[in-house]
Amino acid sequence: MNVLIVGGGGREHALAWALNKSPRVKKIYCAPGNAGIASIAECVPIGPMEFEKLAAFAADHAVDLTVVGMDDPLVGGIVDLFEERGLRVFGPRKNAAILEGSKAFSKDLMKKYGIPTAEYRTFENAGEAAAYLRTARYPIVLKADGLALGKGVLICTTQEEALSGVREIMEEKRFGDAGLKMVVEEFLEGPEVSVLAFADGKTIKPMASAMDHKRAGDGDTGPNTGGMGNFSPSPFYTEEIDRYCREKIYQPTVDAMAREGRPFTGVIFFGLILTKEGPKVLEYNARFGDPEAQVVLPRMESDLLEVMEAAVDGKLDEIELSFKDDGCLCVVLASDGYPVHYEKGFPIGGLETFAGKEDELVFHAGTKFGENGEILTNGGRVLAVTALAPTLREARAKAYAAAERVTFANRYMRHDIGHAIDEV
Ligand code: AMP
Ligand code: GLY
Repeated sequence: MNVLIVGGGGREHALAWALNKSPRVKKIYCAPGNAGIASIAECVPIGPMEFEKLAAFAADHAVDLTVVGMDDPLVGGIVDLFEERGLRVFGPRKNAAILEGSKAFSKDLMKKYGIPTAEYRTFENAGEAAAYLRTARYPIVLKADGLALGKGVLICTTQEEALSGVREIMEEKRFGDAGLKMVVEEFLEGPEVSVLAFADGKTIKPMASAMDHKRAGDGDTGPNTGGMGNFSPSPFYTEEIDRYCREKIYQPTVDAMAREGRPFTGVIFFGLILTKEGPKVLEYNARFGDPEAQVVLPRMESDLLEVMEAAVDGKLDEIELSFKDDGCLCVVLASDGYPVHYEKGFPIGGLETFAGKEDELVFHAGTKFGENGEILTNGGRVLAVTALAPTLREARAKAYAAAERVTFANRYMRHDIGHAIDEV
């Protein structure tokens, strides 16, 4: 089979790596890909929002399945266009990707169907939002309605912060049109867990849990990022919590989407917070997480291609998902200054030390080839260094030792990925 992956970050490298293990995969294309993905896939210079060009490429190159990694094309309707052209594609249609595309939609869905989440109000008018915030209890959370690269969330401890947040989101439009609407939400406390799950419109099959580290700095300080590292499984995600989530959150979400006439096929990412009152949904995403994919897929024993095909064909109920008992931990090597301001274009050394290793992996996030074929930094998040080991502690030690083998100017990483492992 020929497969086309849409995207070019660490998540897409992990997807390519996992699909490449399937005996039925003959050739992988990736648009646009990156310098790491190029070692297993043919990179194609087409942007993720160029739907017509991507569909024409898939048709011309006998692509049997297209896998969309990124949120923007999903929310923009790439799956609908591929389906119109008779092309097989893994991911939700536009009317289902709205689960990630609009926080107001997802909050209303959860409320309507009794899925546990934080209390909230939605505003389309800055004056009304400000009036509400003058009477609210603090801390409180402000969220731009639309896609904002995971950065459209402000946690405000005082009224002044909240009022300036309203100005930023709704008046100055710091997150663009994502700020036309705003959700104001109750602040929840407890460990955060990410659970990714395959869905086929009616059946849902959760993968192993993971714990992300979203803040840029050690000790969970500094600005929110796309994710500075994570690990799987989460020690907080017990069997009891898993049972509760399957019954009260996962299946009800898929059922709710089906009942709304928006059947969800693809991956639903549940961002959960384990509060004292029980697990609650913080957010949904309509795709694999980045870097969640980099720690969940290395633990997956099932054939990713088979699972994705079962999802597309509505046959997930026939699939048994299985995961290794090993722990997996990933440290993101970023460019210093990410997510605000950073330089790129520096040569990367040490990548050859990962050759042939099955338990130490380096997924490329922002890399490209230089003029002489050398590999250069090309983004805020540059690499995800990932290790598998029998315990999470060993995986952490191994990932950090491996991270030290990689060199580039302005290299920045958090040094406390997996700190929660010692706190349970
Ligand atoms: P999101 O983009 O919705 O994932 O939010 C980014 C981060 O903000 C989350 O990973 C949480 O750490 C935090 N956050 C979002 N909503 C809440 C909430 N209601 N209570 C506490 N923290 C939150
Ligand atoms: N790591 C969080 C996300 O992919 O949204």
